[in-house]
Amino acid sequence: MSEFRIVPFSRAIDLQQFDAGVDALTEYLKKYARQNQDRGIGRTYVLTDSNNRAIGYYVVSMAEVSFASLPDLVKKRVPRYPLPAMRIGRLAVDHRYRGQKLGEMLLVDALQRSVNLFHQVGLFAVIVDAKDAVAEGFYEHFGFKHFVDRPASLFLPMGSIVKAFES
Ligand SMILES: CC(C)(COP(=O)(O)OP(=O)(O)OC[C@H]1O[C@@H](n2cnc3c(N)ncnc32)[C@H](O)[C@@H]1OP(=O)(O)O)[C@@H](O)C(=O)NCCC(=O)NCCS
Repeated sequence: MSEFRIVPFSRAIDLQQFDAGVDALTEYLKKYARQNQDRGIGRTYVLTDSNNRAIGYYVVSMAEVSFASLPDLVKKRVPRYPLPAMRIGRLAVDHRYRGQKLGEMLLVDALQRSVNLFHQVGLFAVIVDAKDAVAEGFYEHFGFKHFVDRPASLFLPMGSIVKAFES
């Protein structure tokens, strides 16, 4: 069995040594994840090792996609008003653990969560905010597409996600 698992953020997790390699991402988990979760701003899920140490995390919240942001091909299939979405606001793996499919494990967990939501509320897409070209590359690798007017944001329609998980 893998030594890694993904659990809801809690005080029991050891955050001390976590280092995302990007100060803002390290700081978020250590300083802001708890309060943002308590305030309903973003729910954090943490990848932990067998010693309950944080190795990675992602944050999800609800969002909206504007019709104007969608590529023409998608526009043809949806109404002209804003569409419901789930946002992965942050996703990071400790820089010492990269390249072991842990980023993929976090993303798949987040997408599975979106499938669960899809069956309970209206949900059109998962959207992500990529902080730089490297992050964009990661999401493109998994099929995310760019919005036409927001270069750093990408989306994946629920149709594709549900098909991948339920086929
Ligand atoms: C992006 C990040 C999460 C990737 O984590 P990771 O654990 O090193 O990546 P994985 O090992 O899970 O990679 C899974 C697959 O994605 C690919 N991949 C990883 N990073 C990639 C990138 N930047 N561009 C393109 N493909 C990428 C891998 O090659 C691998 O492909 P394969 O299945 O064909 O072998 C990690 O580099 C990170 O935390 N970066 C800093 C924070 C960040 O940029 N977060 C993203 C949004 S805020």
